[in-house]
Amino acid sequence: MTTRIGFLACPGTLPGSPVRRADAFEHDVQIEALRKGFTPAGLDLVEIDWHGEIETLTAFPLVLVGTVWDYQDHEAAFLARLEELAARGVIVCNSAELVRWNSDKSYLRDLSAAGAPTIPTLWPDAPSSEDIAAAFDHFGCDRLVVKRRVGAGAEGQEIFSRENAPPAGWRYGHRAMVQPFLPAIVEEGEYSFVFIDGQFSHAIRKTAAAGDYRIQSLYGGKEEAIDPTPSDIAAAEAVIRTIPGEVPLYARIDMIRHDGALAVMEAEMIEPYLYPRQGPHLGQLMAEAVLRRLK
Ligand SMILES: Nc1ncnc2c1ncn2[C@@H]1O[C@H](COP(=O)(O)OP(=O)(O)O)[C@@H](O)[C@H]1O
Ligand SMILES: [Mg+2]
Repeated sequence: MTTRIGFLACPGTLPGSPVRRADAFEHDVQIEALRKGFTPAGLDLVEIDWHGEIETLTAFPLVLVGTVWDYQDHEAAFLARLEELAARGVIVCNSAELVRWNSDKSYLRDLSAAGAPTIPTLWPDAPSSEDIAAAFDHFGCDRLVVKRRVGAGAEGQEIFSRENAPPAGWRYGHRAMVQPFLPAIVEEGEYSFVFIDGQFSHAIRKTAAAGDYRIQSLYGGKEEAIDPTPSDIAAAEAVIRTIPGEVPLYARIDMIRHDGALAVMEAEMIEPYLYPRQGPHLGQLMAEAVLRRLK
């Protein structure tokens, strides 16, 4: 007997969709890796549009929040949908509660308060040029990154130096987070640690293209499999342990070195790319985790 498991996707990622995105090959890579573990475990992974009829989604005992790359444009509807599925008895991984908490980078404050190693951050609502000037002094640094609290793909991100500061009258149009620019991003890169059901699975290192500091593939960033040191794995585990509530079925902990130790840049538990090509056991680990939740 096989059990059907739903993989929530969106028009931008579903195979055959007329509006499929150019980077949706990541969806295919992830699906292929999961099926490799799911099929032998008696799990049939079905890609499905999260916008579809509720009855098509409640047909699954468990759904994975897969490649819902458009959820930020419909956030309230998306969270309501996850809650509705749970209310109708579907196991949703990760849960609506965890997704809600994870959708605003203010969660980093919770992780920090719980003892995770984090990057020093100021949290101004809509910073002015004066706020940016004060942030240079606050951190005692010459370069700053200003980011949106809600967002992905480095969208809306600004970088300033003391010589190249925002002009008088400038204001950032979003709830922001301001961090010192950490030179490790160009010298060493950023790490991603993948955890399945709280257990470390695999890690990669992402480096930016020459002349850039953003490691995203959109800006020419590259990734490679690595064999992290025990102390770097321990740093990522320290982050996983501070996540409130349930143990996430899947999580990707993005980290950067700061003052010699890894600090968390992001802890992604909504629709992270899990770098399946660098983690050959991903499908099997996910299948085992799903079977444990179904019990
Ligand atoms: N404090 C920082 N120092 C250096 N680079 C940073 C810093 N914050 C962000 N970056 C760069 O910008 C990228 C995007 O920032 P991130 O916080 O991961 O947001 P998101 O991936 O959600 O857009 C990072 O992957 C990194 O390349
Ligand atoms: Mg990121």
